[in-house]
Amino acid sequence: MRTKQFIEDRISEIKKKVGSGTAISALSGGVDSSTCTVLAARALGKQLKVIFIDDGLMRENEPQEVKKIFAKLGVKVNVVNYRKKFFAALKGKTDPEAKRRAFRNTFYKVFGKEVLKSEARFLIQGTIAADIIETKGGVKTQHNILEQIGIDPEKGYGFKVIEPVKKLFKHEVRVVAKGLGLPEKIYNRMPFPGPGLMTRVVGEVTPGRVALVRKATRIVEEEVASMKPFQAFAVLLNDKGTGVEKGKRKFGEIIVIRSVESKDAMTAKPTNVPFNILMKISKRITAEIPSVTRVVYEITPKPPATIEYI
Ligand code: XMP
Repeated sequence: MRTKQFIEDRISEIKKKVGSGTAISALSGGVDSSTCTVLAARALGKQLKVIFIDDGLMRENEPQEVKKIFAKLGVKVNVVNYRKKFFAALKGKTDPEAKRRAFRNTFYKVFGKEVLKSEARFLIQGTIAADIIETKGGVKTQHNILEQIGIDPEKGYGFKVIEPVKKLFKHEVRVVAKGLGLPEKIYNRMPFPGPGLMTRVVGEVTPGRVALVRKATRIVEEEVASMKPFQAFAVLLNDKGTGVEKGKRKFGEIIVIRSVESKDAMTAKPTNVPFNILMKISKRITAEIPSVTRVVYEITPKPPATIEYI
């Protein structure tokens, strides 16, 4: 791929499609949506509105940090808080695909609302090749694949979707992000799924359970950062395990540490995390999150497992 040419082609394509209209981009701060947002900002300038949907499923301080990074690039980001709506939609749901459906429907509903408010007719989206391949292959329904799953965005929600990096794999998107001048913090960022921490909470997604996995995620990310894994995070299981505290037995939460190496997320293998790091993570998680009694390390490659848990 010739990066410079790719960037120029996408910019002129976006310009041509949007014309004198306006577009809106839902930025998540991940490498895919960040790349698409900068491509669109270059193509459209003030004709682009950038929003960050705070769904309550992000990592610690994510909305504020993303806002800061883009402000430095001259792109204004509006953070819109829809946490309550997402948690209401997820309430009582435990089936993975039901959760994904609830997330997707809520995402498009609130996004549709924001689009109508902004009067934009075009939606810039960071769909990448793996999302399309896996959704078509039935591995899962990714929230950002509309047409493939039978949702007509124009009919249902009144806007057209532009997906500038849909032919690229993750490692290629990183090259484009770097070429666009995005900071290393973004272009070398671990992939983070659209439905956020929801994919790492097995069972019901409640504000409390998300807060727990969010804390554990920060600890895992901090402790394995020096190893630069493809992805590393914590998962909250929907089961409990007995522990002992001050001589008393207690039935507590189980956290899984997941760290994988991969090139394009289509296949992956577990990171060879040194035992002392794993021990440190376990110590920190049980000390900093007292409701957790057990921490385990996951060693399944993809396939047969997937990277995320739902
Ligand atoms: P899995 O769990 O299917 O994940 O092995 C493959 C890669 O995709 C990310 N992922 C998602 N990304 N929306 C996204 O934008 C989603 O619904 C989604 N589900 C998984 C995952 O983090 C991994 O990098």
